[in-house]
Amino acid sequence: MCGIVGAIRAHHNVVDFLTDGLKRLEYRGYDSSGIAVQTGNKITRVRRVGRVQLMENAAREKGVHGHIGIGHTRWATHGGVTEPNAHPHISGGLIAVVHNGIIENFEEERARLQSLGYTFESQTDTEVIAHSVKHEYERNGHNLFAAVEAACARFHGAYAIGVIADDNHKEMVVARMGCPLLVAFGNEETFIASDVSAVIAFTRNIACLDDGDIALLNANGIEKLLDKNGQAAERKVKVSELSLASLELGPYSHFMQKEIHEQPRAIADTAEVFLDGGFEPENFGTTAREVFAGIDSIKILACGTSYYSALTGKYWLESIAKIPTDVEIASEYRYRDVIANPKQLVITISQSGETLDTMEALKYAQSLGQTHSLSICNVLESALPRESELVLYTRAGAEIGVASTKAFTTQLVVLFGLAVTLGKMRGHVGEEQARAYTEELRQLPGSIQHVMNLEPQIAAWAQKFAEKSNALFLGRGIHYPVALEGALKLKEITYIHAEAYPAGELKHGPLALVDENMPVVVIAPHDKLLDKVKANMQEVSARGGELFVFADLDSNFTESEGVHVIRTPRHVGDLSPILHTIPVQLLSYHAALARGTDGDKPRNLAKSVTVE
Ligand code: F6R
Repeated sequence: MCGIVGAIRAHHNVVDFLTDGLKRLEYRGYDSSGIAVQTGNKITRVRRVGRVQLMENAAREKGVHGHIGIGHTRWATHGGVTEPNAHPHISGGLIAVVHNGIIENFEEERARLQSLGYTFESQTDTEVIAHSVKHEYERNGHNLFAAVEAACARFHGAYAIGVIADDNHKEMVVARMGCPLLVAFGNEETFIASDVSAVIAFTRNIACLDDGDIALLNANGIEKLLDKNGQAAERKVKVSELSLASLELGPYSHFMQKEIHEQPRAIADTAEVFLDGGFEPENFGTTAREVFAGIDSIKILACGTSYYSALTGKYWLESIAKIPTDVEIASEYRYRDVIANPKQLVITISQSGETLDTMEALKYAQSLGQTHSLSICNVLESALPRESELVLYTRAGAEIGVASTKAFTTQLVVLFGLAVTLGKMRGHVGEEQARAYTEELRQLPGSIQHVMNLEPQIAAWAQKFAEKSNALFLGRGIHYPVALEGALKLKEITYIHAEAYPAGELKHGPLALVDENMPVVVIAPHDKLLDKVKANMQEVSARGGELFVFADLDSNFTESEGVHVIRTPRHVGDLSPILHTIPVQLLSYHAALARGTDGDKPRNLAKSVTVE
């Protein structure tokens, strides 16, 4: 969702970085893009609706060249997908701004600025930032830092901004509140970006800004930084470990395909902490033993796919660790009257670590006195882990495809590891059982590799799905969240309407939808609910519905008229939900291929959801 880049390069054309960086941020989701570069004594701007490549072509044609500039990929919130609404926004030819986030009081600000004589060319909230900064800049004798500081003091909401002025050839000002922004340091060049993927081709030395920071940058780095209290501060410079190869497609056609296939490795890397270090609380942080010893329940907050991993985790936490666990959608929790329990551990789960609703839900919980928090996150140093008492990172590597795949399965590995850790601490998991769980985890990457071999069969099913307009996904118990995840994957990348139900709910309503045009996917491994699932499948067959069953070898299913079966190699015990996620991911990916939709960049969606 909206990507920001910017740079001050003493010896190089800034356009090369801006366009490269914006392409690397494309995965976040966007509908238009633009750059503003200081060329001599004016700001030259290029904006285009559609792919960054179109905008880059236009910039090259125009011969845009300069040493300081900003760029943006926009995911429309206020105002349609049009060139006038694309960023950067410019005020009076003097100030150019890129912005990620939402200025909640933009209507009041717009009215105020209109009364001061400003006219608006766009329907965006961002244009108020440009005019507001310009207004302050002219009033204070062209001090860019002070102008941004004064303007930001008026805004409510979330923002990360980059600002340049047409008469300042050396400096840029950035500010952050609730949306991600980092500064990166090269050799006489300084960069800004929404995330590290935009800069690592140029430098690995980065510093993340904190909420409330305002910084003045020049080619040698940060010249001045004030924190949220207006105090001078410094931000630690770290060396990013993200590899460039993880951002490239390699032999794959799509990032989603690449990321599905990376799962054996991602799962093995994530499981390593438990395989090498045992199921010990210290894996979650140095104070985790003490924190875990004092909790009486767990609340998990997350959105989308991460919410479904939380739902799966609840089964493990209650069955293995016997700890009451409650799971809530972050955007609901944050606006609800909550009965706070200071002895409850609040867990947030997020691939990006920047999802605004999850972040705000955590802050809400903390404001209620729920001080114990754990973040399960894939992006190092992102906002959620920084705000949490404890953290365990999934080691999925960069996830570029908008539809989450390897982040989900690695989140499940961490949740499983947490359940066993708490189970051991609480006396419900003995040494022998812990060894058995270790062995299950050790075997998992190999079992997943076997499931990948089913891809041709799943791709053949996908051809049938591609012609449908609707689909149902069914599962029971711990496989119900897998059904939910399967339906979400299918709808988001193929635009086929898909819904998931616990199979036992079918006859309470959704059965009315079933006829010969309704494909019904069933997750049916050999577990204690299998006979119940089989009975639910009869209900579908009796109404002429076509069943597509993912089972394991022990489930004993036979194919028949209207019943298709794909068998995963063998039952993998407690980790079965992780294994059964792979087939539903592959089904969606191949259905998207067959329908010709872009699985990596589904319409209307963004990878990192940094607005409400
Ligand atoms: C679906 C998907 C989204 C995200 C959700 C939360 O494939 O990717 O539903 O899971 O937006 O994102 P994170 O995990 O970054 O908080």
